[in-house]
Amino acid sequence: MKLDLPRYTERFGATSLHGVQRVYELDSGFDDGRSMSETLTRVGNDQIIDIERRMAIVIPIKAERLRLLEGVLSGIPHDCLTIIISNSPRQPVDRYKLEKDALLQFNRFVGRDALILHQRDPGLSEAVKETGYTSILGPDNVIRDGKAEGMVIGMLLAKMAGKEYVGFIDADNYVPGAVNEYVKIFASGIAMSKTPYTMIRVSWIFKPKMSETGLYFSKWGRVSELTNQHLNSLISYYTGFETEVMRTGNSGEHCMSIKLAELLTFSSGYSIEPYEIVNVLEEFGGIIPTVNQDAMDKGVEVLQVETRNPHFHEDKGDDHLKEMMVASLGSIYHSKICPPKLREKILESLRGRSMLDEGQPEPPAPVRIEPFRGIDMQQFAKILSKATTYTQ
Ligand code: GDD
Repeated sequence: MKLDLPRYTERFGATSLHGVQRVYELDSGFDDGRSMSETLTRVGNDQIIDIERRMAIVIPIKAERLRLLEGVLSGIPHDCLTIIISNSPRQPVDRYKLEKDALLQFNRFVGRDALILHQRDPGLSEAVKETGYTSILGPDNVIRDGKAEGMVIGMLLAKMAGKEYVGFIDADNYVPGAVNEYVKIFASGIAMSKTPYTMIRVSWIFKPKMSETGLYFSKWGRVSELTNQHLNSLISYYTGFETEVMRTGNSGEHCMSIKLAELLTFSSGYSIEPYEIVNVLEEFGGIIPTVNQDAMDKGVEVLQVETRNPHFHEDKGDDHLKEMMVASLGSIYHSKICPPKLREKILESLRGRSMLDEGQPEPPAPVRIEPFRGIDMQQFAKILSKATTYTQ
């Protein structure tokens, strides 16, 4: 892959937030000895494959069309470990079983490493309870519903499998080629990172929508635009300079080194993506003390890379957008580093769009999921092996 070097970087304590980088060639071929422009970099196929071997791709899924899941599976490079975490209904039709059958059938043909597990499996809940990771459990002592909860379980499985990197791809993507590009972007970003504590976030070149006149290639979703605006205000408040650096506040397609992932506190449901950025600033922004001195010394990088493929996914309607918007802005609003002025601006944004119910003074505080660094992975793996839906 041939892509820009970062043109602009916002430095915030030990964190470097790089501006969006463009992809010039999806496949940059063999090294032909030609010199490169000093502003571009080439990540060779051998380097990409080497990173893919050390990467797990987590697909969180809840009742998506199987055809879409099959397409996503076909787009994931062969050498990555695929991990599906499902929260699909088991009754009246066992949708989880259908997903598992589809995965096993796919694997029979391609011979690939893959894991699948149901998020609400009592055996999984037992494994997290016994290892003391209770912040992911609901009042019923079972893993809570939510996309973030599925992603965190995926990260635990990636660590358990000895992977160094974990990427996330939604199951409702219509374009397998785009999925493939996301993973190449993850690997290229990792190759470009100068620290082991790194995160690569995908910025879609277009998110097309159907309009009366045909397809309209919009650039920003309504939620992303607002989330990015408020994340940028948070950064500007501390640096004293307005910025537009953050463009991927809601990006579901992103990846992290396990070394970074295991230090982060996550926020439940759909607030996970913006809160990853907020938490990186909380932990490594130099505003509040941290126990993670090694990451402070080596630095944390956030890279954002714009795709060549447009992003076509399932449109889930206005109520869903409202849920995402309130959760996303709520995760910024309730941060301990959110200044009172920004809180007011967030409230104005939400009230102006009638996103808060009558009498609701503020967005609800998203539930937090603690860092998973301290979990005894051997004990976790031993208990998990008894979970009935765990299939490899
Ligand atoms: N395991 C699990 N558990 N997966 C879930 C759950 C859950 O409780 N809820 C949703 N998912 C899965 C979906 O099946 C899908 O594969 C993925 O998580 C994303 O959920 P969607 O409901 O399709 O979200 P979206 O497409 O509207 O929004 C996506 O893009 C946003 C940016 O535009 C999500 O990735 C958002 O998190 C992201 O901010």
